Order: sequence, then structure tokens, then C-alpha cells
Amino acid sequence: MARILVTGGAGYIGSHACKALACTGHEPVVLDNLSQGHRSLVRWGPLEIGDIADASCLDSVFRRHRPDAVMHFAAVASVGESVGNPGLYYRNNVGGTLNLLDAMRRNGVPTLVFSSSCAIYGSPDAGPIREDQSPKPVNPYGASKLMAERILSDFDAAHGLRSVSLRYFNAGGADPEGEAGESHDPETHAIPLLLMAASGRVAQFDVFGTDYPTHDGSAIRDYVHVSDLATAHVSALEHLLRGGSSMTVNLGTGSGTSVMQLIDAVERVVGRSVPRRLQPRRPGDPPILVAATDMAGSLLGWRPRFVELDDMISSAFAWMERPVAEARTARR
Ligand SMILES: NC(=O)c1ccc[n+]([C@@H]2O[C@H](COP(=O)([O-])OP(=O)(O)OC[C@H]3O[C@@H](n4cnc5c(N)ncnc54)[C@H](O)[C@@H]3O)[C@@H](O)[C@H]2O)c1
Repeated sequence: MARILVTGGAGYIGSHACKALACTGHEPVVLDNLSQGHRSLVRWGPLEIGDIADASCLDSVFRRHRPDAVMHFAAVASVGESVGNPGLYYRNNVGGTLNLLDAMRRNGVPTLVFSSSCAIYGSPDAGPIREDQSPKPVNPYGASKLMAERILSDFDAAHGLRSVSLRYFNAGGADPEGEAGESHDPETHAIPLLLMAASGRVAQFDVFGTDYPTHDGSAIRDYVHVSDLATAHVSALEHLLRGGSSMTVNLGTGSGTSVMQLIDAVERVVGRSVPRRLQPRRPGDPPILVAATDMAGSLLGWRPRFVELDDMISSAFAWMERPVAEARTARR
């Protein structure tokens, strides 16, 4: 059993990781500033409200809880926003990570699992993306994640601080038992936006790009279930706790879904049509992003379990349709 400080643990993926930690006998302690997170998603351990930019808050949390390791989810994570407000992204995602690593060193915490992103790859050629593909981020969000990866690698070389960087592709779905799910404000992710359009919560879904060189002209992405991401974090943590060395791995399913296929799946699951508006491509949106997954399998022994797209969508829909009182609490 290990005690893990989970930054951003009140958010979408971090809350699922806390559940996976608790289910495998570990003890999550959440640190979150609640800028996007929800108090009600912190169900598996204590919540410390604070910011990773605040060194004295970090020292106090480390001193009081004495974690064995850190899982670092806290970040701002919207590509579009990062283009208009790069300072926020570099300050929070790069400066915040550096601040956290300095606090880990001061408090003798030797290992960290980091939320990286396929956004570091930029617009690669089609075909499964391998971890050794040279990263060329095309927006400040992707660049901030790549800079944080570089800092982690330098901290290992200089100070022996070991880390696993997990490059997620597109997270989707919700906890199959309905205990956690996605509630961003504003929402920018395709699955919740499609569900909102299908159920009349928003007027329509914007399809950005219908002339990509793909089978139906829309962009292709690799959707990986959030509960699978959570179990990968536990595998990465246990690798580090066993003394394993630093590594960087993709987390995806290895299969691609086009926006049009996603719309069909949402219509199948919800039983209603999705009103849509066809829009031009957005700058910096690559045609195809699909992960090569063999490294996560061979190095972490991780394979996604929830690979059926319809199951991913129905878990997300069940979360969105949960009773109103519960949903209101989750928005706080
Ligand atoms: N959702 C995806 O598809 C996806 C894909 C690739 C990578 N990621 C990365 O995974 C991580 C989690 O993403 P998510 O979708 O769960 O996002 P989220 O916004 O739901 O969770 C992030 C959490 O971090 C908290 N936070 C932000 N800045 C903070 C700070 N300075 N101090 C303390 N807490 C802070 C927020 O309140 C929020 O609870 C992020 O690092 C993101 O970049 C997400």
C-alpha cells in the first residue's frame, strides 16, 4: 500500500485514477484548486484545496500527508484556449510542474506519474504514432506538455527523480459504476458535446473538417476509456515503486474512429439524431491521430479493456443523465 498525492484529482481523469488507486489498496490524497475540478468527485481520500503554484501550500501538504509518490494531473487542457492565452498554459503546465518537482525534492518524494498528451506529436503523418516519433507540437498546450516531459527527463538525470510520462490520446467514457465522469465548463471534448447535441442541451455539434484524406472526410482520433487510463496509472506507479526506470509511453487503443463514426455511435446509443453543422478544418487539427500501443503492453503490461465505442459512449451518457440533484452537486 502506498500513499499517493494526486494533483488535479478532483478532475475528470484524476478522479478515476483515485478510484483505481483505492481499489488496488493505495491511498490517494487529492490536491486541486477546483478551477475545473469538483469537490463531489473526491470520494476516495482527503481533499486539499490549493494550487501547485504555491510552494508553501505544497510543502505543507507533503509534510502532513507524507506521500510515497505523486500522480500529476493538474493542468489547463484546452488546445483552443492555449492558442489565445499561451502564458496561462506555460505558467500552469510548465511552471506548475517545475514547482511541484522542486517541492518533491525538498520533501524527499522520489517518483511521479505525469499526464502527457498526444498533442506533443503535432500533425504527424498518418499511421500509428510511435513514442520515438519526433515531437512537433503545433499549439502552446502540446508545447507545454513536451516542455514538462523534458524537465522530468532532466530531473531524473540530475537528481534521480524517476517518472513515467503517459501520453494519452483522446479520453472518453465514465466510470462504469457511475461514481465519476466528465463535467468540464466550458465543455470542449467531442463525446460530451455530441451527447449534449443529441439530447437537446446544445443546438448542434460542429464537425470541423469534412475534406480530410480519410475514408469519410472527417478527422480520425483514438478514443481510450478513462477507466483504462486510470488502471494504466496504477501500473505505472507500481513500476516506479518497484524501482523501475523512467519511461514515456502512449496510452491509446490503436484503433481510430472518425468524427462521422462517432456521430453514428452516439445516435445508436442515445436513439436520437445529432443536429450538426459542417465547418471548415481548424488550424492545427491533424487528419489522423492513432497510437502505437505496443510499448504500454510490453513495458507496463497494460491493455485497454473497454474497447467498444458504444460502451464508452453509453457510460458517458449515463453520467450525463444522472439524477439532477447529483449533477448539480458535481458542478460545484
Ligand atoms: N482529457 C483528455 O482527453 C486528455 C488527453 C491528454 C492529456 N490530458 C491531460 O490529463 C490531465 C487531466 O485532464 P482532465 O481531462 O481530467 O482535465 P480536468 O480539467 O478535468 O482536470 C484537471 C484538474 O486539475 C486542476 N488544476 C488545474 N490547475 C491546477 C493548479 N494550478 N493547481 C491545482 N489544481 C489544478 C483542475 O481544477 C482540475 O480538477 C491534464 O494534465 C491534461 O492535460 C487529458
